[in-house]
Amino acid sequence: MNINIRKLAKDEKSPIELLLTADPSKSIVEEYVNRGDCFIAEKEQQIIGVYVLLPTRPETVELVNVAVVANQQSQGIGKQLVEDAIQKARLKGFKTIEIGTGNSSIGQLALYQKCGFRIIGVDLDFFTRHYLEKIFENGIHCRDMIRLSRDV
Ligand SMILES: CC(C)(COP(=O)(O)OP(=O)(O)OC[C@H]1O[C@@H](n2cnc3c(N)ncnc32)[C@H](O)[C@@H]1OP(=O)(O)O)[C@@H](O)C(=O)NCCC(=O)NCCS
Repeated sequence: MNINIRKLAKDEKSPIELLLTADPSKSIVEEYVNRGDCFIAEKEQQIIGVYVLLPTRPETVELVNVAVVANQQSQGIGKQLVEDAIQKARLKGFKTIEIGTGNSSIGQLALYQKCGFRIIGVDLDFFTRHYLEKIFENGIHCRDMIRLSRDV
């Protein structure tokens, strides 16, 4: 599919509704966008995908808020975004890229592992501690953060 992925300029508004589909907390999402670099995928001048690259430790960057608009999902765009993020991280000189997702996010865990990420740890009760509302996905209570990582 012919999509164009580019960095959002500092004076451009971020696609907050789309970003919120990847993380229900507006304050956390806004903090990520302010601290990191937000990239958008466009098709025919419409934003169809987004992700944020967030430097965390020396040589390490975290991929957060990967999201594809609902009617464009399951066509390989999510995979393209993750692969693009890995390439951007490499070009910026990072050595490791990390990502975290909920224990209930079955599809996301499939996607990230297909993109070469391996599970490196579990942050037990991350979502119970940081989110007021209970999150359910695929009929599973989302409580723990599964941490994944790969070399870039
Ligand atoms: C997660 C998300 C970005 C995936 O985007 P997408 O464009 O639908 O994903 P793709 O079509 O590129 O799928 C990539 C691979 O992951 C797998 N996958 C994706 N969603 C899946 C699901 N729900 N169940 C099982 N596998 C899934 C597919 O099998 C595919 O593998 P393949 O290429 O070998 O067939 C998208 O579903 C989304 O925006 N969700 C809401 C926001 C979100 O949860 N973000 C992640 C926060 S951690």
